[in-house]
Amino acid sequence: MTASGGPLEGRVAFITGAARGQGRAHAIRLANDGADIIAIDICRPVSDSITYPLGSSDELAETVQAVEATGRKVLSREVDIRDLDALAKVVADGIEQFGRLDILVANAGVLSWGRLFEMSEEQWDTVIDINLSGTWKTIRAVVPAMIEAGNGGSIVIVSSSAGLKATPGNGHYSASKHGLVALTNALAIEVGEFGIRVNSIHPYSIETPMVEKKAMMDLFTKFPQYVHSFSPMPYQPVNHQGKKGLMEFMMPEEVSDVVAWLASDGSATISGSQIAVDRGTAKY
Ligand SMILES: NC(=O)c1ccc[n+]([C@@H]2O[C@H](COP(=O)([O-])OP(=O)(O)OC[C@H]3O[C@@H](n4cnc5c(N)ncnc54)[C@H](O)[C@@H]3O)[C@@H](O)[C@H]2O)c1
Repeated sequence: MTASGGPLEGRVAFITGAARGQGRAHAIRLANDGADIIAIDICRPVSDSITYPLGSSDELAETVQAVEATGRKVLSREVDIRDLDALAKVVADGIEQFGRLDILVANAGVLSWGRLFEMSEEQWDTVIDINLSGTWKTIRAVVPAMIEAGNGGSIVIVSSSAGLKATPGNGHYSASKHGLVALTNALAIEVGEFGIRVNSIHPYSIETPMVEKKAMMDLFTKFPQYVHSFSPMPYQPVNHQGKKGLMEFMMPEEVSDVVAWLASDGSATISGSQIAVDRGTAKY
C-alpha cells in the first residue's frame, strides 16, 4: 500500500511503546495517513512487579516491517522512556534523518494491580516512574525539537479512563494517569504559542497484553465491590476493520482512529482536551 496524499503527508511522528498493542497500531495508522515514524520501545522487562511481558525486539521489528509496508520510512530504537539522554539521542537522530518532528504520541505505559495501602514501594515507583515521569521525559526530549522545527504540531498523551475516575485495585496507575491530565493541560498552554496542540486520550478496555484478564478477575473475586468502577460498555460494535474484539474490549485500531484525528488538521481547534475513548462508559 502507498500512503501518498494522506492527511499527514510530509509529517513525522514520534511514538513511544511502539513494539506492539496500541503503539504499533498508531504507528501503522499514522504511516498509512502519510507520516514517517520514529518508533521506540523498551523491549525488555522492567520490574518483577509488572507481571505480564513487555514488548520485545522481535515485536518492534514487526512494527518496523508493517510501517515500511505502507511505503513510509521508520527509525526504530530500543529506548526506555525513563532515560532522558537516550530519548534526546533518538530525537536528534530522527531530526537528522527526517528534518522535522510534527507529532508525538506518548503511549508507553505499564500496569499492575494491588491496593494502595498494601502495595510495595517497587510497585508504586515503577508505575509512577514510567507512566508519569517517563511521559514527562518524553515531552522534555521531543518538544524543543518540535518548536525548533517550526511547523507547529500535535501531541497526544495516552492517559486512561483511570485518569478520569477512581480505579480501586490500581490506584497508583490511576494516580499516574491523572497526573498526565495536569501535564497535558499545562503543556497545552505553554506550547500553544508555537502552534502545538496537546490533548490526552482516555481509552478503556483495549485488547492488548497489558490487560491480564485473570489478574482482573482475581481482584474482583477478592473485592467484588470494585467491579462497580469497571463498568461494561454501553454499546458493542464488535467488528472493526475486519477484526473481531471480545465483547468487553475494543481493538487498538479503534484508538488509532482517534489518535489519527488528533494528529491531523481536522482537530485544529482542539487543545487541552481530555478525549474519552470508551464507547461512553465514563457516563455510567
Ligand atoms: N489496554 C488498555 O485497556 C488500556 C486502557 C487505557 C489506557 N491504556 C494505555 O495505553 C498505552 C498503551 O498500552 P497497551 O494497551 O498498548 O499495552 P502494551 O503493554 O501492549 O503496550 C505498551 C508498550 O509500552 C512499552 N513500554 C513499557 N514501558 C516502557 C518504557 N519504560 N519505555 C519504553 N517503552 C515502554 C511496552 O514494552 C509495550 O510494548 C499505555 O499507556 C496504557 O496505560 C491501555
